[in-house]
Amino acid sequence: MRSFIAAGLSLLTLASAQPFELEKRSATCMATKDAVKVAQNFRALIHEEFNTTLAQTAMTKDFTDYSDSVITLINGGCVDGPVALTTPTFSTRKEFIAGQSSQPPIPFKILNLWHTCSTVIIRWRASAPGTITTTQEPVTGIIVIETQPNRKKVNDQPFLIQTVFSEFNSGAWLYDLGVFDPTCPAPPPPSGKRSIAI
Ligand SMILES: *[C@@H]1O[C@H](CO)[C@@H](O)[C@H](O)[C@H]1NC(C)=O
Repeated sequence: MRSFIAAGLSLLTLASAQPFELEKRSATCMATKDAVKVAQNFRALIHEEFNTTLAQTAMTKDFTDYSDSVITLINGGCVDGPVALTTPTFSTRKEFIAGQSSQPPIPFKILNLWHTCSTVIIRWRASAPGTITTTQEPVTGIIVIETQPNRKKVNDQPFLIQTVFSEFNSGAWLYDLGVFDPTCPAPPPPSGKRSIAI
């Protein structure tokens, strides 16, 4: 009991001094079918021939996309590339439409899906041979999609995509594009443990 209370107290302390943002709760809670629809919409926007109508009906106007992985691709892995890491990749729906409509469709398979009342989390893999230039390394990523309930109810989209946090293996992607040329094989770990070169 005592340890239970102590755990509760430390959670409270954490909540009052949190250095991070917690999910904003809404009065409406999405059902799993709504979460699947949100995920399928997002997948369609990057996997299929670009559909501006879908973007306009499935996303909020103030859509914002954060992806240091995408920025790393845009910058070709260079430190002084055109877009600074940590800044939004797209700041509005209009910017997303302009940027994404000029991209070739990305092979994108959803491996897992989870959701809360307003957030959808997916794990995905792009591994279709020949689509990111010549194959080689599979690229796996995780996307957190925050949504807003659709108040207008004018279309068949109960939850709109508002904020996307997306990270993936941009090292493998740059390798597949031929931008990153690693020294192979990787050096053996010093003590039989896996080593990470940082
Ligand atoms: C584009 O999206 C809209 C809205 O979801 C849909 O009605 C339409 O059929 C889509 N067009 C194509 C070519 O898939």
